[in-house]
Amino acid sequence: MTRFHPESPEIAQDSLSRLRFIADFRKQMHTSLSKGNRAAYEADIAASVDEAASVEERRAAVRAALERHPYFRGWSSMLLASQDLMWRVVGQSVAHDTERMKLRFKALAPQAIGSVTLDGDLSGPDYVVRADVHRMPGGYMGAGGDDDMQAGALYDLGGAIYQLGIGNKAGGLLNDSRGRTVVAHLRARFPNLAPLRILDMGCGVGHNTVPLAAAFPDARVTGIDVGAPLLRYAHLRAEGLGHAVHFIQDNAEHTKFHDASFDLVVSQIMLHETSRAASARIIAESRRLLRPGGVAIHLEVPLRAEDGDDFDHVMWLWEQHYNAEPNISGVMDDDLAGMARSAGFSDVMLGYQAIPSAGSEQSAFTPRKTSKSFGFWLVLSGIA
Ligand SMILES: C[S@@+](CC[C@H](N)C(=O)[O-])C[C@H]1O[C@@H](n2cnc3c(N)ncnc32)[C@H](O)[C@@H]1O
Repeated sequence: MTRFHPESPEIAQDSLSRLRFIADFRKQMHTSLSKGNRAAYEADIAASVDEAASVEERRAAVRAALERHPYFRGWSSMLLASQDLMWRVVGQSVAHDTERMKLRFKALAPQAIGSVTLDGDLSGPDYVVRADVHRMPGGYMGAGGDDDMQAGALYDLGGAIYQLGIGNKAGGLLNDSRGRTVVAHLRARFPNLAPLRILDMGCGVGHNTVPLAAAFPDARVTGIDVGAPLLRYAHLRAEGLGHAVHFIQDNAEHTKFHDASFDLVVSQIMLHETSRAASARIIAESRRLLRPGGVAIHLEVPLRAEDGDDFDHVMWLWEQHYNAEPNISGVMDDDLAGMARSAGFSDVMLGYQAIPSAGSEQSAFTPRKTSKSFGFWLVLSGIA
């Protein structure tokens, strides 16, 4: 038996072997086997695409041709099958350990250093409830009772395997590379900022809220999300890791906090799971919540249309079309820096921050990415 952290579900040895296989398999799919898609495009598709057509028409033609191509169809089917297999194996571990986790959660209150506050009246936004994001069975909101933590436990284990499977080892089983990248960006860009009130919007199970609490031990760290089962589990997880985080069920588009409540507001890979309109509202809300001189960082998937060609654009949209991630196109194509300026931010910066190595709070920033590696996250930052 093993655990990813002190409060994670127990994973039996045979499940761990399966999960390792799935992570390795997915890494092959995303590296060597994915090269076959580019080869298929260059050999069988590129020459037939009308260079004079508009960019949208060209991309639509590439996508339609790829969807008819046997290599892409086989590759996509295998990737989808591995995603569903991952949820099945992870689901078995969660099911075996659910009652123990519920008891652990109930026992937390008297000695907890953080908290969880739920709002039973909050309904999930359309983009969260319309489909099971990442094909995770049951989605983020869950349908269980007052002690339901299933979505949190599934997301915790599945999210770590998913990240390992795109070759991004830096987060490891704690899946915390985003929070550590936010800290590296802050240390490099705002070395004098010592935030005492930090908000993480769309915190999920707190994978990347905990590193903020670790980096700023004097701060009161709050994480909000719409999913109650995620937040219950996030509380259990953060307590197990020994970090004080206050989790609140709230909608990042229009939170319940007063103006200027925070010194630092972040979101991490949330915008690409919302919509174009919601992204603009969330960026504006982060501005409202900051005191003058406070800083916002919105971290996203490292995919900008200007850093790839038509083929890349179509491949980067794979997750949107087949894995229920609704707004990858918004992150790739929208004028995110313009949205931040319209919301009232100054000194806006958009670019790629490298994932720092374990134990480090330093990494390189580059406005344009020259490599296709996933060793970066996209960051949008600005001052209120
Ligand atoms: C991909 S997860 C990222 C979790 C976490 N930020 C991380 O980096 O590990 C996106 C999260 O955003 C949440 N979310 C989506 N829209 C939201 C909204 N409008 N308000 C609050 N949370 C939202 C989802 O429930 C989900 O937990």
